[in-house]
Amino acid sequence: MKNHKFIVIEGIDGSGKTTICNYIIKLLKNFNITNIILTHEPGGTPVAEKLRNIIKFTKKENFSYKTELLLIYASRLQLLNNIIRPNINTHWIISDRYDISSYAYQIGGRGINKKYITFLQNFIKNNIKPDIIIYLDIDPIIALQRIKFKKKDRIENESINFFSRVRNYYLKIAKKNKIIKIINANNSLENVKFLVKKKIIKLIKFTEI
Ligand code: TMP
Repeated sequence: MKNHKFIVIEGIDGSGKTTICNYIIKLLKNFNITNIILTHEPGGTPVAEKLRNIIKFTKKENFSYKTELLLIYASRLQLLNNIIRPNINTHWIISDRYDISSYAYQIGGRGINKKYITFLQNFIKNNIKPDIIIYLDIDPIIALQRIKFKKKDRIENESINFFSRVRNYYLKIAKKNKIIKIINANNSLENVKFLVKKKIIKLIKFTEI
């Protein structure tokens, strides 16, 4: 049996993904698991971080949905080739977002036709699938409330309607995909951690460590 897992955390902006990623690392360490890589998308390599910066913080220039999509896939390819592929057989990889984000944001949110995402997935040979995707499901009104004092980036500045479309698409995919575990993230952080802990411990127990 494989003795490490690829865990992805997903959710709309303000759902608490980053906190939960750090919490998962803490949990794994409690089980004496130390071969862990924490990464995120877009980003995770020097080139991908530059792309992340462009994707999130471009101002004063028209930024088309197609540009956004292509930069996200360029970033994903850098991460796949330089971090995920070389470590997938030796490390636990925890990623704050992965390819499901593109379905939710670019198809659900932006309205891009799915056939282009399918093409890009094949083009970059994205054949590495997570063992579990924890989707933090939250009402966009609550999520945006949580980040209202933060200096928002280009995507975080989108409307409630945009985030509702993204959320609906996440839920649509989650219903069809058994590796996606929906966690209710509307409640307190302690409650979310409790629900996540149950999933992760189950995952660890099915694993030789
Ligand atoms: P975050 O790392 O703070 O979540 O910011 C990443 C932003 O990029 C977030 O607003 C979602 C967006 N994004 C997409 O639109 N599509 C994608 O495929 C990924 C990975 C992220």
